[in-house]
Amino acid sequence: MSFAPLLLEIKNLHVHYAVYGGRLKVLDGVDFHMRTGEKVGLVGETGCGKTTMMKAILRVLPMPPAQIPQGEIYFNGRDIRKMSGNDLQRVRGRGISMIFQDPTAALNPVFSVGEQLGAVIQYSAERGKALSHQEIHQRAIAALQEVALADPERLLRSYPSQLSGGMRQRVCIGMALATHPQLLIADEPGTSLDVTIQDQVLRLLRTLVAEKDTSVILITHSLGIVREMTDRVYVMYAGDIVEVAVTPNLFANPLHPYTQGLISTVPRLTGGGIASGIPGRIPNYLTPPTGCRFHPRCPHVMDICRAEKPPAYRVDDDHEVACFLYRTENRV
Ligand SMILES: Nc1ncnc2c1ncn2[C@@H]1O[C@H](COP(=O)(O)OP(=O)(O)OP(=O)(O)O)[C@@H](O)[C@H]1O
Ligand code: SF4
Ligand SMILES: [Mg+2]
Repeated sequence: MSFAPLLLEIKNLHVHYAVYGGRLKVLDGVDFHMRTGEKVGLVGETGCGKTTMMKAILRVLPMPPAQIPQGEIYFNGRDIRKMSGNDLQRVRGRGISMIFQDPTAALNPVFSVGEQLGAVIQYSAERGKALSHQEIHQRAIAALQEVALADPERLLRSYPSQLSGGMRQRVCIGMALATHPQLLIADEPGTSLDVTIQDQVLRLLRTLVAEKDTSVILITHSLGIVREMTDRVYVMYAGDIVEVAVTPNLFANPLHPYTQGLISTVPRLTGGGIASGIPGRIPNYLTPPTGCRFHPRCPHVMDICRAEKPPAYRVDDDHEVACFLYRTENRV
């Protein structure tokens, strides 16, 4: 168990989206924490709410349609939801950076790489400290060199459309790390690229993160990468955290029926459903199932599962599971 200080703590986070016909009740009371220096994985099939949770942390959810009826998000002990503009700016600069799945959407096509990278570097500078043009330029060059991009001078003058997908993703990683964030959120980095480039991008990310000892939340559909790169893993199903464990334990001893399905059947969880081993799909968030949201798909469903939402049970120091099959364990 790590005793490093708590870096991020989320308590009972609910996120809804108002849509035609009602409200999509997506996040359903998420609890999450990580300590400084930890590399934490977040897995779960498409649509389970991973990106929604990350955007809530950074306060970049579109509001409306998003609403947060309940929940607290603490970063270094301070509630992000209550922060003022200046404090929030500091969190988004030197506190938390995010790499998005699609590098094309993350870069603005009408500004050069140098203009965008320069803006990020200036934005994340200490409050009130204006950097000289030359200083920004030098830091921008260093950021591109760090992500192994050749000819950075030329790249700074280029526009995103003049770069390949792999180069754009590297620029995004360089941009995210140029601020020396305490926490890097990598939301399926490179999934839109071909597998070889994606692999290179992930390997680069792993090296850079190891060098800097940055804390990381890694979202990926590849369980192999999670196994290789993370210390602990959260498993999410339909807006609920269903299991969390240190990485080797999760793979050696998955407890939740959903996690067991994930790990036994699929190396990659792409597409609409995850696994032939778990028939069915993620529920409709307008009218989610009562009790345990997994109950319509669960091979072990009991009466209580339809009536009550399972709390988290602690099975050992580093392993919790939200499932009534473990009722004899300690409730968290
Ligand atoms: N702006 C929005 N308006 C309405 N619904 C939304 C909005 N953004 C997300 N959703 C819905 O919220 C749910 C969770 O989406 P989210 O993008 O968080 O899932 P995800 O786990 O990141 O999936 P993926 O693995 O495909 O990236 C989905 O049902 C999605 O349709
Ligand atoms: S709480 Fe019940 S329905 Fe949910 S995963 Fe456990 S056994 Fe299955
Ligand atoms: Mg996503």
